[in-house]
Amino acid sequence: MINNFIKTCAQSKLSSIYEELLDTSKQALAVNNGNIAKWESAIDELKKHNKGGVNYQPPYININTSNSDTKLIQQSLKKLTPWRKGPYQIGDLQLDSEWRGDMKWDRLKNHIQPLKEKTVLDVGSGNGYFTYLMALSGAQIALGIEPFLLFNYQFMSIHTLINNPPNAFVLPLKLEQMPKEAVFDTVFSMGVLYHQKDHLLHLQQLKTLLVDDGELVLETLIIDKKHGKQIIPKDRYARMRNVWCLPSTDTIHTWLKKVGFKNIKLLDITKTTPQEQRATHWIGNNTQSIKDFLDPNNDKLTVEGLPAPLRAIFTCQK
Ligand SMILES: C[S@@+](CC[C@H](N)C(=O)[O-])C[C@H]1O[C@@H](n2cnc3c(N)ncnc32)[C@H](O)[C@@H]1O
Repeated sequence: MINNFIKTCAQSKLSSIYEELLDTSKQALAVNNGNIAKWESAIDELKKHNKGGVNYQPPYININTSNSDTKLIQQSLKKLTPWRKGPYQIGDLQLDSEWRGDMKWDRLKNHIQPLKEKTVLDVGSGNGYFTYLMALSGAQIALGIEPFLLFNYQFMSIHTLINNPPNAFVLPLKLEQMPKEAVFDTVFSMGVLYHQKDHLLHLQQLKTLLVDDGELVLETLIIDKKHGKQIIPKDRYARMRNVWCLPSTDTIHTWLKKVGFKNIKLLDITKTTPQEQRATHWIGNNTQSIKDFLDPNNDKLTVEGLPAPLRAIFTCQK
């Protein structure tokens, strides 16, 4: 994978930064994490199976393998639980992740600038489900950055099963670690803003990485404006520990404008449903999902009494 990454970067706008990206990634992977041996053994096992071509057959990123050993593949992939993002299909095996990523993709894919031949960044890519979709949409390179190591190993496990993988890569980096160069035509930040203590800084960092007129696709949790300009959760939100701010769409518009984005468009507002976020056997022993995060007597509220999850997608240009 690394050779292909270097080759693809060298021919793209990332030629000036890829060496630094690789150096920083190597440091991130060198940490002392007791699970790495287990994750690497899963990938070694997967290497023994036939590879297959990849395409998008909604809802699945589909790998056409003619493997008869579906059970063995499942066993190896289960060493990498929880599978939050997906879904994927490998031969006959349906890896039904907690989230139906296709539903988010459907909401935005026809409303963003075409990704064909573009240099694309997917910030907080998780295991790369959307990064693959960006590459399959024709991006010259789609780079996912994801600090959580397990999700990097999940990406590698899927990558191992693909013949001639598209130009999608995931590296264990935080947005803050990216070289401050304007090299991306499109930057996605989906499900990341509400995890940031400093939302304006996050938006500024995204802007720094965009070429002039490049596009930001921003997806984040919001509140209806009847609840005010923003809610700062006192403690958890929908049982998540690290949600710092729930703004209204007007507030996000103001933030994007303040940071200097233009052509700000609100594409979509959607309530998160149990169809989109569900507990499956791929998320391991802690099988709680959206149903368990909502007030059992009022699905308009979370268990903490805050407005139930509502998500918005914006596009804007630098
Ligand atoms: C809720 S998930 C969203 C995953 C995917 N983008 C999606 O839309 O489904 C947020 C991800 O962002 C990652 N993340 C959080 N802070 C980040 C940062 N500063 N830079 C890059 N990724 C970050 C987390 O590790 C997590 O995997």
